[in-house]
Amino acid sequence: MYDNFIEYYLGDACVCNTFVRMNTPKRYLITSALPYANGPKHIGHLAGAYLPADIYVRYLRSQKREVVFVCGSDEHGAAITIQAMKENTTPKAIVDKYHAMLESNMHDLGISFDIYHRTSEKIHHETAQEFFTTLNNDGNLQVKESEQYFDDSANTFLADRYITGTCPLCNYENAYGDQCEKCGTSLSPEQLINPKSTLSGNPPSKKKTTHWYLPLDKHESFLRQWILEEHSSDWKANVLGQCKSWIDAGLQPRAVTRDLEWGVKVPVEGGEGKVLYVWFDAPIGYISATKQWALNNNQDWKPYWEDKETKLVHFIGKDNIVFHCIIFPVMLKLHGNILPENVPSNEFMNLEGDKMSTSRGWSIEMDEYIQDFVKKENGGDMMVDALRYYLTAIAPETKDSEFTWKGFQDALNSELVAIFGNFVNRTFVLMHKLCNGKVPPLHQDILDESDNKILDDIQHSKKTIEDCIEHYKFRDALFEVIDLARKGNKYMQEKEPWIVAKQLGENGLPVPEAQQRIDNTLHCCLQLTANLTILINPFLPYTAKKLCHMMKVVDKMLEWENAGKRNLLSVGYSLRAPELLFRKIEDAEVAEQIEKLKIKSKKIMDASIDKQATDATSVPKESKPTIQFDDFAKVDLKTGTIITAEKVEKTDKLLKLEVDLGAEKRTIVSGIALHYKPEDIIGQKVVVVTNLAPRKMKGIESNGMILMAEDNNGKLVFVSSNVSNGSNVN
Ligand code: 2FM
Ligand code: ZN
Repeated sequence: MYDNFIEYYLGDACVCNTFVRMNTPKRYLITSALPYANGPKHIGHLAGAYLPADIYVRYLRSQKREVVFVCGSDEHGAAITIQAMKENTTPKAIVDKYHAMLESNMHDLGISFDIYHRTSEKIHHETAQEFFTTLNNDGNLQVKESEQYFDDSANTFLADRYITGTCPLCNYENAYGDQCEKCGTSLSPEQLINPKSTLSGNPPSKKKTTHWYLPLDKHESFLRQWILEEHSSDWKANVLGQCKSWIDAGLQPRAVTRDLEWGVKVPVEGGEGKVLYVWFDAPIGYISATKQWALNNNQDWKPYWEDKETKLVHFIGKDNIVFHCIIFPVMLKLHGNILPENVPSNEFMNLEGDKMSTSRGWSIEMDEYIQDFVKKENGGDMMVDALRYYLTAIAPETKDSEFTWKGFQDALNSELVAIFGNFVNRTFVLMHKLCNGKVPPLHQDILDESDNKILDDIQHSKKTIEDCIEHYKFRDALFEVIDLARKGNKYMQEKEPWIVAKQLGENGLPVPEAQQRIDNTLHCCLQLTANLTILINPFLPYTAKKLCHMMKVVDKMLEWENAGKRNLLSVGYSLRAPELLFRKIEDAEVAEQIEKLKIKSKKIMDASIDKQATDATSVPKESKPTIQFDDFAKVDLKTGTIITAEKVEKTDKLLKLEVDLGAEKRTIVSGIALHYKPEDIIGQKVVVVTNLAPRKMKGIESNGMILMAEDNNGKLVFVSSNVSNGSNVN
């Protein structure tokens, strides 16, 4: 078919889009945010930074443009070391495990990176160190001594992620020192209200240390000019908005080193025991990934980062805006690299009425979707495209959006199956039934207005889709493809070739005039199918591949310049039987997934409450380091009596107690339910830590802690005394 295809087009006028041609850069470098290799990533991440980038790249490749698509795992930072602590293993073991998972998930979901690299690679460490050294040698960094949060009991400085507290903007109680996951705001640890160390749970102290700073304040006028003027019309409003508020709030020098072990070592004198801040090294990961890609492919990486004719585009989620639009560009400018031309950032995708969150179990992990749908008997690539379809159709391009399983079902059943799949299937079935399985001829003399209209519609849609993709409006672009298929269905319905076929002649076949009308209809429908294949390819690549197989055409037909042509399939060419492109989602599957989500989330939340309870009551067996008398004197211990006790619903370990402390009564949640029945401890004398910061467990605020001891059998026993309530314990 390929030769035939080419011959057919020699001398044919090329219908190319001048808008696209005139603005074509020499090469493209497309990046997707490097995900932390600290756990599985959910489909919200996929919709935010990976899928839109992949659509864009597939589109560029189909335009035969020179493009490199890089990504990789972000393997440094507290996200990794915290996970290592949780899993009781090393940071290296964590990144090895999750890098492998992420790489395979991305591949399974059709994300076509040219390289999926990792920041633990030597080439990355060297690249990041060279970058830092250059900036430092050129006098573009400042060295300053400052006070940083320190955990006295763990004897360590605290990375931003190791500090939690209340977000000053939305009051979320578990915001991190660098970011609030609830409202998405980037924070600094000093902004948190009631900061706590995640290592010990204690409020951190401050200690002096020396660090290197990137003086963002010196680059304010450059940023204003570059972002708010030069890019005021081509960057998305959400991106410009965030940048403007950061700049207007006044930029501050930003520390780019940390007192940590895990990460890229600070390569200059005085840097011993310090590493580069993860947000300094991670974006340099785009450069090291490009270098590795170039090595693998015998190419030169430099033009991708140094030649102004390269169009650099970063695809990210909204929580990464400041790093990609303010900090990294300043670094790039100082280092002599090109700047991104655009940073299309998506808002967040919620799930079934709540924020998507892996840590709360309210998520659909990419890995989970792959196991539940793609690797199932009735799944496969078809279900990859199904997810790609729905995530693009509800992409949070301008505001947060919401994934629901019902929405997924509706989108598949009533759009992909009922419109796109139905059109293709009817076309193939009728072509086999009424045209001997061959592409029928086009009878020009009876070509009517609606035949011409549907063929013109292809051209029109192609232009709209191009325009949308070039402006990162993937949702609208996909809508246009489906709309074209919808027009195909309408055309077919108007033409009713199955009715026309009933005008039979003496030989039992349709009369010649009827056959000619059938030929024209199915010819147009087949050309439309071939065009839809090209247009859907960036979004649903597996569907496009299957369609190529059905039409017996080679991948070359998928080149974008072929879209809009009226004669992609040669007359007389026999095509294969239709295959199932998409399957319907049953009600039972929707119910099953919703149930699964609820169970998963409950299990994770219960486990976290149990852990809090255990943490609150367990007495570590090892002796803790010596503390000074002043530290001990800070603890306020009083005696009291338990006056009420009840089990906390939906937990095994927690009891809600009311304790009489003489001058006041306190509610205290205690993790002793496995050791005592509520009724057995009423009247029990207890020693209470009364000046512990309040803590919420299962929605109940606990105001203090009961001191318990662990006996030889591991049973918790009360440390009690028979003095009057409210007495001080010294
Ligand atoms: O937010 C994140 O998951 C970061 N790991 C993104 C890094 S993007 C880039 F800078 F590498
Ligand atoms: Zn917040």
